[in-house]
Amino acid sequence: MKTLIFATNNDHKVAEIKSVLNNRFNLLSLKDAGINIDIPEPYPTLEENAREKARVINRLTDEDCFSEDTGLEVTSLNGEPGVKSARYSGENRSFENNIDKLLLNLGHQKNREAQFRTVICLIRKGKEKLFEGVCKGTIIAERKGNAGFGYDPVFVPEGAEKTFAEMPLNEKNLFSHRKKAMEKLITFLLSEEAD
Ligand code: IMP
Repeated sequence: MKTLIFATNNDHKVAEIKSVLNNRFNLLSLKDAGINIDIPEPYPTLEENAREKARVINRLTDEDCFSEDTGLEVTSLNGEPGVKSARYSGENRSFENNIDKLLLNLGHQKNREAQFRTVICLIRKGKEKLFEGVCKGTIIAERKGNAGFGYDPVFVPEGAEKTFAEMPLNEKNLFSHRKKAMEKLITFLLSEEAD
């Protein structure tokens, strides 16, 4: 079975991606691969940050690997927090503080349209390839649910009547940006395997 390193320290993301992979590939998180670094995300786009994370791990391990960068893009906030989603609330950043800042900035705004966008960067046999997944939805005014992570308690995906945080993982995956990007990656890898 093909082994791939997933360049992340986020256990929630590892669990989500493992459930999508469904044992079709052997996934190693950074922890599994014995790598203990915090990879910086210094760039102004998801694409550049995803590339940087994959490049750092590829240089360290010389193994095929992939990374992902995700942002919550809110229409009435001109696409913010976007690439800054993880550090939206600044120095005292936390999932809780990030949501507080988002709700404060949205205030009573009528347009609460938003989307999660994931960009995956694969480095395979030294070549880079990007895959994108988008999930459109709405930001609600108060948190609902305890599952998931990040902005999940205030995000209701299009076609659902509850937040990501009210869904078990298999239900989140029916809508998820990360799952959509991952499916494109898997299709590519399976076609490459067949070559
Ligand atoms: P990054 O890709 O680790 O930089 O993620 C950026 C931030 O976006 C995370 O810290 C979370 O706050 C948020 N985020 C990413 N993916 C999700 C998701 O699936 N649900 C909710 N929040 C997410």
